[in-house]
Amino acid sequence: MTTAVSLDFIKGLPKAELHLHLEGTLEPDLKLKLAQKNGIDIGQTTIEEVTESYKFDSLPSFLNVYYPAMNVLQTEEDFYELTIAYLKKAQQQGVKHAELFFDPQAHTSRGIPFETIINGYYRGVQEGENYGISAALILCFLRDMSAESAEQTLAEALPYKDKFIGVGLDSDEKGNPPSKFAAVFQTAQQNGLKRTMHCDIDQENSIEHIRQVIEDIQVDRIDHGTNIVENQELVDYVNEHSIGLTTCPVSNGFVVDDMKGKEIVELLNQGVKVTVNSDDPAYFQSYIADDMYALATKYHLSKEQIIQLAKNSFEIAWISEEDKQTYLAAIDRYTNE
Ligand code: HPA
Ligand code: ZN
Repeated sequence: MTTAVSLDFIKGLPKAELHLHLEGTLEPDLKLKLAQKNGIDIGQTTIEEVTESYKFDSLPSFLNVYYPAMNVLQTEEDFYELTIAYLKKAQQQGVKHAELFFDPQAHTSRGIPFETIINGYYRGVQEGENYGISAALILCFLRDMSAESAEQTLAEALPYKDKFIGVGLDSDEKGNPPSKFAAVFQTAQQNGLKRTMHCDIDQENSIEHIRQVIEDIQVDRIDHGTNIVENQELVDYVNEHSIGLTTCPVSNGFVVDDMKGKEIVELLNQGVKVTVNSDDPAYFQSYIADDMYALATKYHLSKEQIIQLAKNSFEIAWISEEDKQTYLAAIDRYTNE
C-alpha cells in the first residue's frame, strides 16, 4: 500500500476537526485515573484491561461500552481534564480549529448538573489557544431519548448560549429519525445556533433520514452521511447548498467493518465538501491525521485530494470568512514549502 504523502506531511497539514465526541476521547489511562480518584468501580484495574474492554462491532455495541465509561466523569475538573487531554493530542495531529461534540444528557441523566458539564468543558476549550487551537463546543442531543428530554436539555442550556456554537444529534439512529427532533432544532435555529445531525452509516432508511436532515430540518452540516452517494439528487442538493459532510473512515471500519473509503472518495470527486474526522479516537485508537493517513493509504489518495480534504474542513467550519481565508492561506504556505 502506498500513498502520495507521509504521515508526517499529514500531521503538519493545518486542519479542522469537526466530528469529535469529547466523551469519545476518554483514553484508558485517564479513565482509570478518574475512576480511582472518584472511587468508582469500573470493573478493570489496569490499562490493558480497560483497552481490552473497548470491543464492539456495531454502533449499538459501541454505545454499550461508551456510555457506562462516562461514569468516571463526576466533577467540573474531570470534564476540563478530558478536554485538555484531547487538545494536547490534537496539537500533535495538526489540528488548528476544533468544533467538539458533548452529550449533556449522558451526564445529567446520572445526576451531574448541566452547569458542571458545560463549565468544565468550556474552561477546557478556552485554553485551546495554549495548544494553537481555536476550539468551540457543539451540544448533542441523544436521539434514543425523547424529544421532550431534548427540549428540556436545550431549555437548560440556553442560559449558557455563549458557551456553545451549535447543536447536533447522536446515539442510536435505529427508529429515531431526524423528524423526531424537528421542533427542538427549530428552537435552536431561532436562538442563533448552528445545526448538524448524525446520519450514521447503512442505517434503516439512511436515504430518507439524509433527506429529512437537509430538506426538512435544513441543517448546516451532516455528520457521516456517506450513504448520500446512493442518491444523485441529494448529492446535487448538498453541492448546490454547500452542505459539508464530516466523515469518519476509521470509526466506520469499527462499526460497519468498512471504512467506506470508496464512497468518501467518490463524493470528494463529485465536489462534495467532505472532511475526514476521528469521531471517538480513544475507542478507535486513531486521531485525525492517523485517520486521513489510513484513508489515503488504503484508497491511494493523491496529494491534491488530501489537501482538498484539509481545505474542506475549514470551508465548512463554523468560523468567520476572514478566519477561513487565514487557515486556507496557511495550508497553501505549508504545501508550497
Ligand atoms: N454515532 C452515533 N452516536 C455516537 C457516535 C456516532 O458516530 N459517536 C459517539 N456517539
Ligand atoms: Zn459521531
